[in-house]
Amino acid sequence: MDRIKVVGRKKLNGEVSASGAKNSALPILFATLLAEGENILTNVPDLADIHSTSNLLKTLGCKVEFKNNRYSIFRPKKIETEAPYDLVRKMRASILCLGPLVAKEKTAKVSLPGGCAIGARPINFHLEALKKLGAKIRLEDGYVFADAEKLIGDKVVFDIPTVGGTENILMAATLARGETVIENAAREPEIMDLADCLTEMGAKIEGAGTSTIRVQGVDQLKPANHKIISDRIEVGTLLISAGLTLGKVKVTNCNPSHLESFLDKLSETGIKITTGKDWIQADASHLKELQPVSITTAPYPGFPTDLQAQFMTLMCVANGTSQIQETIFENRFMHVPELVRMGANIQTNLRLATIIGKKEAFQPATVMATDLRASASLILAGLNADGITRVKRIYHLDRGYEKLENKLTQLGADVIREKDE
Ligand code: EPZ
Repeated sequence: MDRIKVVGRKKLNGEVSASGAKNSALPILFATLLAEGENILTNVPDLADIHSTSNLLKTLGCKVEFKNNRYSIFRPKKIETEAPYDLVRKMRASILCLGPLVAKEKTAKVSLPGGCAIGARPINFHLEALKKLGAKIRLEDGYVFADAEKLIGDKVVFDIPTVGGTENILMAATLARGETVIENAAREPEIMDLADCLTEMGAKIEGAGTSTIRVQGVDQLKPANHKIISDRIEVGTLLISAGLTLGKVKVTNCNPSHLESFLDKLSETGIKITTGKDWIQADASHLKELQPVSITTAPYPGFPTDLQAQFMTLMCVANGTSQIQETIFENRFMHVPELVRMGANIQTNLRLATIIGKKEAFQPATVMATDLRASASLILAGLNADGITRVKRIYHLDRGYEKLENKLTQLGADVIREKDE
């Protein structure tokens, strides 16, 4: 097991390039199940969740090769249709194979993903929507069984704009008979990237990125050849590191339009944000201290829940009180006790956190990562602490960040990965 050692108080100043988006690459990897032949995906981030997905695709019968962030997935005519528990439990996004399998193979048996640290994360909306398209759904022995001779397009209205639910139905609808309309669809850039990839494969999709997506079913799709968009959550995490060290960080190969609400809040702290076509710079080097800023997480284009923990770390060192309301997941404050152990002053009440910030709030400590974004928030806190911070159980981080310690080192931080006895 690894841990990350951070020697804090190094002012960051430099430039790094963003990696491909985990949350775009995952659905798109499953979309390759929709088309026989060799699918080519580039700018795929090299991280644990991607490797888990590639293992699942191999278990289903695909041939998967990857090198330098380029994936080749050969999907044969005949494939297996069961996603077993021991693979799905490692990566709950595996449920995204359900839509493609039932649409293309007429049947699927997928282990129920179960919850995770940040919440119960049910899949009821996915299943209700597939039923609406005519799939027979049965839950037995911890598995979802889905069967349909042919999915029939229909109108699907989501109670909430579920990202995974939108992705599952969008993929299934591409091969359904007739038109499917998805109302209250999720609008994330990753949905738009999936739709772009499916369109390149021959799907007929309108409205991706808005709350209403229309899909005209087609008989078959051709293999993908697609470049994954940049990871806006990694970009936001790197930009926040400038605020923790009153430094200057430029992130290239990214899309500023994917982070508008986040960048608005970041600039309210006093950090100077400048952007270009494919880069963003956060400059805190002129500041003596940061201003407190309150946020409420929301579905896109609102403030992303996946940047909530990192932004909370930043507010711990702002000069004053701020509040963070987490509206997406019911248990996404697990980073709070660890940040408090490092000297932060945070009170929580259900989904509301109140942060009484002060400059240089953090003391060095050994802390424990509990989930993916919490692990990033603890490393960020270590950048501010005056001494050595060790973040344990860093396998959480490796699920969603590609060599974060190398990128922070490139920016001037003293961050290394070490064995944790
Ligand atoms: C995606 O999860 C992301 N994961 C999450 O990123 C992200 O936090 C989340 O969207 C919200 O933006 C991937 O894309 C792989 P949802 P997903 O369905 O699809 C409830 C990260 O750190 N819900 O939009 O699971 C659910 O419990 C991860 O990279 C139901 O109740 O999110 C949650 O409270 C964490 N029933 C809310 O909706 C359902 O059928 C939003 O979930 C589906 C969802």
